[in-house]
Amino acid sequence: MSGRRILIVGAGSVGRRHAGNLRQLGCSVSAVDPREDRRAEFAAAFDGAACHADLDRALSVGGLDGVAICSPTRFHVEQCLPALDAGLPVLLEKPVAKGLVEAERLAAAVRRTGTPLLLGYTWRWWPPLARVRQLLSERAVGRLRHVEFIMSAHLADWHPGEPLAEFFMSSAELGGGALLDESHWIDLMVWFFGMPEGLSARVEKISDLDITSDDNVDMLIDYPDGLRASLHLDLYGRPHRKSIRFIGEGGTILWSETPNRIAIGDEAADEWREEIFDCERNDMFLAVAREYLEMLDGGAVGTCDLDDGLRVMRLIDAARQSHADGRRVETT
Ligand SMILES: NC(=O)c1ccc[n+]([C@@H]2O[C@H](COP(=O)([O-])OP(=O)(O)OC[C@H]3O[C@@H](n4cnc5c(N)ncnc54)[C@H](O)[C@@H]3O)[C@@H](O)[C@H]2O)c1
Repeated sequence: MSGRRILIVGAGSVGRRHAGNLRQLGCSVSAVDPREDRRAEFAAAFDGAACHADLDRALSVGGLDGVAICSPTRFHVEQCLPALDAGLPVLLEKPVAKGLVEAERLAAAVRRTGTPLLLGYTWRWWPPLARVRQLLSERAVGRLRHVEFIMSAHLADWHPGEPLAEFFMSSAELGGGALLDESHWIDLMVWFFGMPEGLSARVEKISDLDITSDDNVDMLIDYPDGLRASLHLDLYGRPHRKSIRFIGEGGTILWSETPNRIAIGDEAADEWREEIFDCERNDMFLAVAREYLEMLDGGAVGTCDLDDGLRVMRLIDAARQSHADGRRVETT
């Protein structure tokens, strides 16, 4: 596993996190970032690691075993393509792309080159959510009828000290916004239940945040056999909240990030059996890095692949279409 040389494309928040974890797992890292300050920070953090202003230059230097794409979403596909062509297995941060057509172009390239790609919908590696998935498969609260996904987090708190105007999340052009960036929760919905039959959505900019991206998403989603879901994503909420409530005919499962727990209740009263977890946010990124290194050693792309990302992109596309047309859109 150790000794792998990984190029990190995008030396920002998640790029530096992956770099730190990969290094902890025995890799050496280099980086690409158009910003000189980011390159300097990266080199300082990683013992003078080589840093390049553009990807072509970094790939032409050679000597790489893999590439992690951690740039703003707008660049994901165009940066994956040369890495795949060079036969370098890719760790791609979510979401796959700004739009479905581009994402399908990437899928064609993966098929053509046969180079593996692991997709970073990282909450799939979060132990409490894996436990919820197990409870659901055991029908712990009977037949599920309604699931409520909520992600609410004020954008100004995401990267303290960084002006919003400089953060790609503020920019529709760069692929920021709640729908694309918080598509984690769409991915989890598909991970738990598969593709829905249809959805109605609003995708809007409604807060006073000085951004061009959307900051509010509300969806109503329908599955066969009487399972319904609602999903709310916003970039203006405080205190932050990430939670999912699964209501079955035999009780309810609650998952929350903070507190880090699952609670199960099946009485009329507000009484819950709790499972408390002590995992930390970086653990899921470390688990992703481990799986990526196993992939470099010939392991299968197990937890999240490009097809998973395409399913999310299809639902993102459907949500945009539903908002534009003001009607429910079929998704099967
Ligand atoms: N899996 C997760 O939980 C998770 C968490 C954070 C971010 N992400 C994803 O990672 C990506 C980056 O997010 P972030 O929070 O690290 O953003 P960030 O703004 O902190 O970092 C992005 C970096 O990319 C650089 N960059 C800009 N244009 C580039 C280009 N053409 N080529 C290379 N680098 C370029 C920027 O200068 C910046 O340093 C996004 O797609 C985001 O959705 C995923």
